[in-house]
Amino acid sequence: MNESPRRILVTSALPYANGSIHLGHLVEYIQTDIWVRFQKMRGHACYYVCADDAHGTPIMLRAQAEGLSPEDLIARVGEEHRADFRDFQVGFDHYHSTHSDENRELATRIYRALQAGGHIKTRTITQAYDPEKEMFLPDRFIKGECPRCGAADQYGDSCEACGATYAPTDLKNPRSAISGATPVERDSEHYFFQLGDFADMLKKWTRAGHLQPEVANKLGEWFQDGLRDWDISRDAPYFGFEIPDAPGKYFYVWLDAPIGYMASFKALCDKTGLDFEGFWGRDSDAELYHFIGKDIIYFHALFWPAMLEGAGFRTPSAIFAHGFLTVNGQKMSKSRGTFIKARTYLDHLNPEYLRYYFAAKLSGGVDDLDLSLEDFSQRVNADLVGKVVNIASRCAGFIGKLSDGKLAAELPDPDLQDTFARCASEIAGLYEKREFGHAMREIMALADRANQYIDEQKPWVLAKQEGQEQRVQAICTQGLNLFRVLMVYLKPVLPAMAEQVEAFLQIEPLTWNSVSTPLLGQTIAPFKPLMTRIDPAAIEAMTAASREDLAVTAEPAAETAAGPPRDPIADSIGIEDFAKLDLRIARILKAGAVEGADKLLQLTLDIGGGETRNVFAGIKQAYAPTDLEGKLTVMVANLAPRKMKFGISEGMVLAAGPGGDQLWVLHPDEGAQPGMRVK
Ligand code: 2FM
Ligand code: ZN
Repeated sequence: MNESPRRILVTSALPYANGSIHLGHLVEYIQTDIWVRFQKMRGHACYYVCADDAHGTPIMLRAQAEGLSPEDLIARVGEEHRADFRDFQVGFDHYHSTHSDENRELATRIYRALQAGGHIKTRTITQAYDPEKEMFLPDRFIKGECPRCGAADQYGDSCEACGATYAPTDLKNPRSAISGATPVERDSEHYFFQLGDFADMLKKWTRAGHLQPEVANKLGEWFQDGLRDWDISRDAPYFGFEIPDAPGKYFYVWLDAPIGYMASFKALCDKTGLDFEGFWGRDSDAELYHFIGKDIIYFHALFWPAMLEGAGFRTPSAIFAHGFLTVNGQKMSKSRGTFIKARTYLDHLNPEYLRYYFAAKLSGGVDDLDLSLEDFSQRVNADLVGKVVNIASRCAGFIGKLSDGKLAAELPDPDLQDTFARCASEIAGLYEKREFGHAMREIMALADRANQYIDEQKPWVLAKQEGQEQRVQAICTQGLNLFRVLMVYLKPVLPAMAEQVEAFLQIEPLTWNSVSTPLLGQTIAPFKPLMTRIDPAAIEAMTAASREDLAVTAEPAAETAAGPPRDPIADSIGIEDFAKLDLRIARILKAGAVEGADKLLQLTLDIGGGETRNVFAGIKQAYAPTDLEGKLTVMVANLAPRKMKFGISEGMVLAAGPGGDQLWVLHPDEGAQPGMRVK
């Protein structure tokens, strides 16, 4: 290695302490872990810390629902998270909790510094309050009818049916999702962090190479919208840290969450003697990287650097955002069995399969990543078992049988070995840039080359000939050395397999430098199979078990104040649910305006069998009645009749579009007959 050792602190986003780790989370932990292991193999002083994100309303409510104290809940979930990470070989140097003394001290220190700098202001705001539960309601805990499309049971910030975003006060018939009571409005004093004080600093910082280009561009839009003050307080009852000198007021969970990165590192420093200020002080020459999902960029690229700057700390060297996981091309879904928890996966499959597959699909950008279960087994079986492990299994037996387990003293083709070793710097460059997919392709191309060498040399033919033992030993020594180089390159991704290989070759832990000297003349251990092929039955069993997890209550909503709606994983309906809908072809016999209604047309629909239906549809701005008469459309025939001011509506016609004059009624091709069921 030519560079001098760097001091690097790395974090992944802190998972909430009220839900299980699932494969969506693991993209990030595996990505970060690979990067950290790579840095460590290069000889750098790299530390990887994380923690449970333990505060906030959802955690408080979940604990209440389970009849536990929040402390007991977060302790239990914390244990579960640690076990999941350990078993996926996510090697944190320290794993902490935001509900810790270190975090309380650091949050207080940062808040006090921001206050002293004049960056905290108070203001009275009006919010929805649940008079039964006696608490203010976060937006996600208010439900009602969408003000735009009227869909029932929508959250206070956005509609899942039509995508509208709005304020909770816009919801029709709002109610508390906790008690069912109708919320009332109530005033309360809140504490605000004046983000605008840091506008100049942030404009510079976000354009100074700390962010991926696509992320920096997105931030540009946010700057144009203006940097609004950030509400960092919540009223009791709340599970969190009370704000100093503000009884009954708590730090909002997102204030102390990123400080949890520091707190976890502080605990590591206390354990090992590392110098905390040396990493976090304003003049630090250490590097600091946060791996996050693209949904929490706002917090990490604006609030967080501003808080650090305002409190006299250094800012991050870079924020590395990644995209979301889809499974089989769609959002993870409980009913399809693709909402797979870390533990469910581990019950059925080897974690290194997934580590490799994610590595093979990851890049340095923010694109979403698909886990196609079919492709997953094909890829892992072909690459890891069929190519990489195959090299060792083709060579090891002959060394055991013909040379008493001893490697040859020289390589028959040192140039080939050099070709492999010379790829070290290119592959290192790809790891450094998080271009893991590209790195895996390079490594697999080398694996093909190694297999080709063995194919050409045919040790299995020579082994049957008299006096060829030395030649066979030399070829197989070459093969195992090529394999060893590949294992150096794959070690960040496959740490457990690398350990097995180290035991098999009887060597010290492989480092990046190991590629420069071949392994010669020494005795190796008998070969044991390193990895087996993925059994399709295991994948089926895993998805079946994930479907069973359906019975588990839905995760409570996440708390977010900014950026796009959180929870990227929506559930889907099963075919049974779809079958409940009576969707029918209908012919629009008559269409006409409705006195006193700006948006409605009254439709008379022929739905076959001599039956007609009267339907009021909100499509007046998009259609003249005469455009519709005589046309076929699709209607929901078993919607409960709705009494409206103008009469009873006996169903609904289907239309698409954002609304107003941008609506298109669905028309089946002529040939379909009124009364036919849609399936
Ligand atoms: O979005 C989340 O899941 C948050 N718990 C992430 C927090 S990351 C950091 F800021 F602490
Ligand atoms: Zn809506």
